[in-house]
Amino acid sequence: MSTTPRVRAMRPADLAEAAELLADAFVEDTNLASFVPARGRRARLRRFFAVTGEVEMLTHGVADVAVADDGAHERLLAVAWWHPPQGPGAPASRAWSWHELPSAVAVFGVRRLVAAARSRLASERARPATEHWHLAYLASRPEPAARGAATALLEHRLAQADAQGVGSHLESSSQGTVGFYERRGWRVTGPVRGPGGRRTTAMWRPAGGARQ
Ligand SMILES: CC(C)(COP(=O)(O)OP(=O)(O)OC[C@H]1O[C@@H](n2cnc3c(N)ncnc32)[C@H](O)[C@@H]1OP(=O)(O)O)[C@@H](O)C(=O)NCCC(=O)NCCS
Repeated sequence: MSTTPRVRAMRPADLAEAAELLADAFVEDTNLASFVPARGRRARLRRFFAVTGEVEMLTHGVADVAVADDGAHERLLAVAWWHPPQGPGAPASRAWSWHELPSAVAVFGVRRLVAAARSRLASERARPATEHWHLAYLASRPEPAARGAATALLEHRLAQADAQGVGSHLESSSQGTVGFYERRGWRVTGPVRGPGGRRTTAMWRPAGGARQ
């Protein structure tokens, strides 16, 4: 029997499970995974998400999780990591902080490190100049119990964005996901080109959602 997933803020104790869920979801991703060596890719991605979660999301990001709760245990079904709207005086864009650099080397390897950094900067440059929410990562478990969990996470945070009158930006790396976001009020704004022929699709959702 499927129940509506509960949405709550991610806690430090969720980090390992969230990193595992994200790594499983992104292991075939044509964008992020292309910068991670094939050998040990899943474990490398787990480390990437664990560090990003700790250094970015639990500090200045907004991290939401959808959980199934059987009364005794909670299990994560989906994860959404956002960068909230930045006001004046926000930190300048950069590839990685000094804290993240050793992990970036371990995740991407020395050979792919520069390309991964350039890709990250290309994504930063693709962000709109106006105030916005940035959906950095969204993933769900590929199982029936997780149906609707990703949508519940989006609806939860977009209700806040709509109330604020602030739009949302993201990059989609597959055509299938473009359709998923279009059905939730985003519209394609154009391609984002990165190193090595990498190409993602930038999308924008105005406050209230784009009209169908
Ligand atoms: C993209 C991703 C997060 C979407 O998650 P999902 O689990 O398919 O999302 P949902 O279950 O919320 O919605 C999927 C569909 O199921 C439908 N659905 C939701 N709950 C349902 C239910 N209880 N019964 C039947 N259908 C349901 C939704 O309406 C939706 O269909 P629609 O898109 O035609 O409206 C997931 O595929 C994923 O993790 N992909 C890998 C990582 C990735 O690419 N992330 C995005 C990066 S840009």
